[in-house]
Amino acid sequence: MLTKGYAWLPDRLRAENAPVVRTRLMGQRAVCIHGVDAARLFYDERNVHRHGALPEPVKSTLFGHGAVHTLDAADHRRRKSLFTGLLMNREGITDLVERTTAAWDATVANWVVDRPVTLFEEASRVLTEAVFAWVGLPLPPEEVAPVAADLVTMVDGFATPAPRHFKARAARGRQEKRLADIITGIRDGSVEVAPDSAVRAVASHVDERGDLLEPRVAAVEVLNIVRPTVAISWFLTFTGHALHRWPGTRARLARGDREYAVAFAHEVRRFYPFAPFLGGLAARDLTFHGQEIPKGAMVLLDVYGHNHDPALFPDPYTFSPERFLDREIGAFELIPQGGGDPRTGHRCPGEDIVITILAALAPRLARLDHAVPEQDLDIPLNRIPTLPRSRFTLARTEHEE
Ligand code: HEM
Repeated sequence: MLTKGYAWLPDRLRAENAPVVRTRLMGQRAVCIHGVDAARLFYDERNVHRHGALPEPVKSTLFGHGAVHTLDAADHRRRKSLFTGLLMNREGITDLVERTTAAWDATVANWVVDRPVTLFEEASRVLTEAVFAWVGLPLPPEEVAPVAADLVTMVDGFATPAPRHFKARAARGRQEKRLADIITGIRDGSVEVAPDSAVRAVASHVDERGDLLEPRVAAVEVLNIVRPTVAISWFLTFTGHALHRWPGTRARLARGDREYAVAFAHEVRRFYPFAPFLGGLAARDLTFHGQEIPKGAMVLLDVYGHNHDPALFPDPYTFSPERFLDREIGAFELIPQGGGDPRTGHRCPGEDIVITILAALAPRLARLDHAVPEQDLDIPLNRIPTLPRSRFTLARTEHEE
């Protein structure tokens, strides 16, 4: 897995040409499954539990200890309602998108003609500024870049034993401490935040037993809003790459065709690699396509291979937003952010945020007069998470009539 990255699981499934492949991951027996039926099985909580499934290195970097990702049943539903209430309402999403587009427009206005900028870094700062203001903790300008760097580092280092993993642990430690102190301050009245803010909602959330979350766990959950929002930088960088690689998509986006912009956002999330697979533990003895999966086995759902399965997406290595026009998308069909129902299962509650932000910023990027200087645009599939090696550099150019 460490050497093959995104290709590891799809290659194993292809080589064995079987619906179930048995392997080991971090010393543990694991069963890999693929396809719509597999996603349906995986997202039925009678079949797969999350508690105890995430390896310690992933909890210590990406998600945090005690996070919603690691809960099951009533505990999960209660905590999940906090996220769906905050993240899945139109008014809240519109507010976040307006903050993001305002920060983006101000940033782009400062780009000097012919001076290259790195899209990944610029996007991460725009998103950090917007999402911290949105949760109720606006950052002073000088803190935006270092906080953005910490959030990006947490995502970048979760799946590697390399030094970037230890940087990710340190970044999480720093941000958890900072936010846990703020949560304590909100509760004792020494820190003032807006009464209807997301950070206040997390600080006052009570679990199934009626207890407040420990300050560190509350900090973990605030980070579970801001960190993945900043992770949209990966998809924005891929957006820049897609516009460069498939310039034919530009005109329709630039015209402001909203339906096409949403289809473009779906295609960016499908086409480019981000989450490689998802893991849980078999809650009971299971059978999948005649193959047994014993209770307690690690179950891995193929995500990257699923989104490139020609049976689901014909010609999967062609970037084609048109494939998502004029149709509904099934709950287990496109799974870059998980499958099933986000309100009851573990599917990402931030999907509409991601789609709406991409559909707002992709047309802006398409309209921007810019050049893409010579650079290494290779996207290595053996690195998780991956990006164009150059992180996508572009330079504004003079406006041409
Ligand atoms: C869960 C992907 C953006 C909040 C997930 C899962 C994936 C995912 C794969 C796991 C699903 C599972 O375990 O079955 C992504 C990607 C994003 C993104 C690729 C874009 C870069 C967001 C945003 C937010 C968010 C913007 C919030 C503002 C969450 C939360 C969970 C989650 C709280 C845990 C859900 C649960 O366990 O019930 N996301 N996500 N994500 N995501 Fe996202």
